[in-house]
Amino acid sequence: LARGTAGPDLAGRRVVISAGGTREPLDPVRYLGNHSSGKQGYALARTAQARGAEVTLVAANTALPAPAGVTVEPVGSAEELRTAMRRAAAEADVVVMAAAVADFRPARQVAQKIKKRDGVEPEPIALVRNPDVLAELAAERRPGQLVVGFAAETENVLAGGRAKLARKGCDLLVVNQVGGGLAFGTDENEAVILAADGTETPVPFGPKEALADALWDAVSQRWSPA
Ligand code: CTP
Ligand code: CA
Repeated sequence: LARGTAGPDLAGRRVVISAGGTREPLDPVRYLGNHSSGKQGYALARTAQARGAEVTLVAANTALPAPAGVTVEPVGSAEELRTAMRRAAAEADVVVMAAAVADFRPARQVAQKIKKRDGVEPEPIALVRNPDVLAELAAERRPGQLVVGFAAETENVLAGGRAKLARKGCDLLVVNQVGGGLAFGTDENEAVILAADGTETPVPFGPKEALADALWDAVSQRWSPA
């Protein structure tokens, strides 16, 4: 059975991955964003390509070199990411949402740069919910297509992850603990791969490539059970 980068076990498979973090515009020069570097998503893209897959990487505001042999589609906001992911997912065998999608966006995007005025308090920023792209992709998935989510939790990691997996309706959810310098922007990660069938696969602390390979193992096992 293919383990790690042992063989082209993903040959002929179409893989779509989102990476990075969305930016929600406030005005022409400012946005609400997050600290996601995109490293885990890029590691997923590189490893899937190495295992023979045809890879599309929807990259939200990343500053990483494009992996060789991978189609990169840059996006900015959650809405743009959603459009790109739904289009690419229509052709995909597996969809992985590794991007950090902003839960909220400013209710209004003003056309001119917001100005400060002496003696005038700033306006509060009204927010609205963004669509849940992962839940949508799971609800719309084609027969045989796998949908994978990621979750970074600061507490109740496993219980929270299980609840999230069920709520999103995805096949697999990779949960990891964050905070205290773990995960964001680093090259290593430690996680548990939760499956809708109840399986839990712990992945020890190590390079993001190792976690990526463990996820592709879980995916390829579901396509061709041992
Ligand atoms: N996600 C998404 N669309 C959103 C928010 C999240 O597709 N609007 C995806 C992420 O890409 C990730 C998964 O959902 O794969 C879990 O993200 P997370 O932020 O942990 O989940 P939320 O449902 O937003 O829950 P929370 O309130 O804990 O942030
Ligand atoms: Ca969230």
